[in-house]
Formats: sequence, structure tokens, C-alpha cells
Amino acid sequence: MTRPRTIALDPSQPDSSAFVAAIAEALEVLQRGDLVAIPTETVYGLAGRALDPAAIERIFAAKGRPRSHPLIAHVEDEASARALAASWSPAAAALAEAFFPGPLTLVVPRAEHVPLEIAAGGSTVAVRAPAHPVARALIRALGEPIAAPSANRYQSISPTRAEHVVQSLGDRVALVLDAGPTLHGIESTVVDLTSEAPRLLRPGSLPLARLMEVAPDLVVREGLVVDASEATRASPGLDARHYAPRARLEIATDAEAALERAAAIHEQGGRVIVLLRSEIVGSQPLYFQRVVLGDRPQAYGAALFAALHAADASGADVIVVESVPEDDAWMAIRDRLRRARA
Ligand code: TXA
Ligand code: MG
Repeated sequence: MTRPRTIALDPSQPDSSAFVAAIAEALEVLQRGDLVAIPTETVYGLAGRALDPAAIERIFAAKGRPRSHPLIAHVEDEASARALAASWSPAAAALAEAFFPGPLTLVVPRAEHVPLEIAAGGSTVAVRAPAHPVARALIRALGEPIAAPSANRYQSISPTRAEHVVQSLGDRVALVLDAGPTLHGIESTVVDLTSEAPRLLRPGSLPLARLMEVAPDLVVREGLVVDASEATRASPGLDARHYAPRARLEIATDAEAALERAAAIHEQGGRVIVLLRSEIVGSQPLYFQRVVLGDRPQAYGAALFAALHAADASGADVIVVESVPEDDAWMAIRDRLRRARA
């Protein structure tokens, strides 16, 4: 597999000639119907023209993703999101007003001119306005929505760094824009607005507490994990195994149990990595690697996928994870850990 062309750019310098040139090159790639991996504030996305069925087909092929799993259309703002919707409810307006641009995806009735392919043949479409300067610049330059699933092969861990994209997709993507590690590290929160009350489809980087301030009637069913055959009917992101590392992932009740379990695996000759929330003071020297991800959900979420990628790259057989708190602030992380274990 050859490496795709990669351009490093500094998202804090959108007026620099290097930034402008990178966006111009990416634009050219999109305009000829090809794909570009772009940073967003959540994870890297595999971008193609959302209104071009051929580009959408390329995205499905590059990811190895079933055509029945719809893609998110990335837009600049609420007005351009609304242009893709057959109707725009007061809830959609309130949520977009509060959180666009940002890590929130809204599922709304699909306008007729939006290709069936992006919606996997369904009557709805997912829209989101990313906050990342690179994603925004490219959407603005194109003047059209961009379809962008996470830039990884189907059912593997989402990329939070350009290097993850290169490892997962290789030259299935024409160009990678590398703006460094993503801010949130967990995908956007997805809310379905097509039934009576707003419904959480995927917990994500927009914290539930903030969402509930604007949508207090949000229907939340934690642990909603359906199997792949059922998945297309609800939301394909609910696939049980959707964010899985190659190594087996186990969740231990607490840090001490995690270290004990890891020691046992190590003694049996297994290569093991332990993911902890905080450093354990005074614990004995260890013969296996342990990684401290942080005891706040924002920091932990930003580091989690990179830690799973690193564990796989190091050839670990087992990843033992200290369980995380049960409160809402950790819901998206519990969700990703549950899926990584499936
Ligand atoms: O943070 C993110 O959302 C990233 C970045 C790149 O924007 N994108 C992303 O895309 O995670 P993807 O395709 O990996 O996940 C999209 C999620 C899936 O759970 C999918 O099932 C759901 O959104 N989705 C997309 N269109 C939908 C629709 N019309 N109805 C219900 N769910 C939909
Ligand atoms: Mg994905």
C-alpha cells in the first residue's frame, strides 16, 4: 500500500499562503470527484462531494462500508443545513442555533434534491456544521456540502490523527490534510429529529447536559446496541462492533482490578496494555505498559482512540481498561468502550 499525499497545515493560520494553497489543492481533488481526508474538531473525515453520487460511491468503496449506512452531510451553517432538509422543525432551529458550528449532527427529513446515496436510500439526511477551520475553509471553497464519514476502514477505530488515516486507508484516499490531533477525539453527537421527540442516536462530543439545556425532552436510551442486520433501521452507528481495535478489549471494575488482570495475562505470556484514568501512587513496578488517559471525560475522550491505535500498532493481544464513571458526562466514552469490546 503506498502512502497518500499528505499536506501539513496550521489551523491557527488560515490566512497563511501554505493554508490557502492546501485548501486549493484539496478543492481540486474534490472537484474532480476524488476524496480528501480532512480534520474536524471530532475525528478526521473522509470527504467527498455530498451532492455527487459517484463521489459518495467512492467513499463507500474506500471505507469498505455497506451502502446501507448513511453518511453525514457537512455544511457551513444552519442555512445550508436547512437547504438539505425537506422541513426544519423548531427543535432543529433551536439546536442548530445553539450548537452549529460544533460537534452535533441532526437527522432531519431529506430534501428531494439530496442524493439518495448519501441517505442510504432513506427519507432522512444527517447534517452537521463542523467547527474546525480546515473543514470550514474547504466547505466554503467548494460552496457545497461535503459528505464525510470517519476516515477509517469500516468497523475500525476512528482516526484522531492524520497518521491513523494513512494507516487505515492508505492510497484509497487521494490527499490527507494533516492539522495535528483532533480536539475532541470522539465523534459528533447524533440526534434524530424525525420522530415526535428528539432522540439521541449516538452519544458524542457534545455533552448530554448541554444538549438537554436546549432539548429537555430528548429521549435517551443508554446502551442501545443493536446487531448489524437491525442497525440500518435505527442508526447504523449503533452497530455493536463499530469502533473496535484488533486487540481484545476488557473492562475491569477499577484500577486495581485492571492491574491484577493485566498481571495475570502477562504471566500467561500475553502482551497487554492497561488504560487507566489516573496514575496509581505507590503501585509496584510493572512488566507491562500502562497508559494514563486522565480523569476528566474531555481529556480522556481526546486521548482514547489514539491509545487504542497505539495498542494495536504495538502488537498488544489484550487491552485492559479501568472502567469509567456512570454519570452522563462519561456516556459517550462508555459507549465507545462498550463497542470496542464487542
Ligand atoms: O464526528 C463525526 O460525526 C465524524 C466527523 C468526520 O464529522 N463523522 C462520522 O461519520 O462519525 P460516520 O459516518 O462515521 O458516522 C455517522 C453516524 C453513523 O452513526 C450513522 O449511522 C449516522 O451518523 N447517520 C448518518 N446519516 C443518518 C441518517 N440519515 N439517519 C440516522 N443516522 C444517520
Ligand atoms: Mg465511523
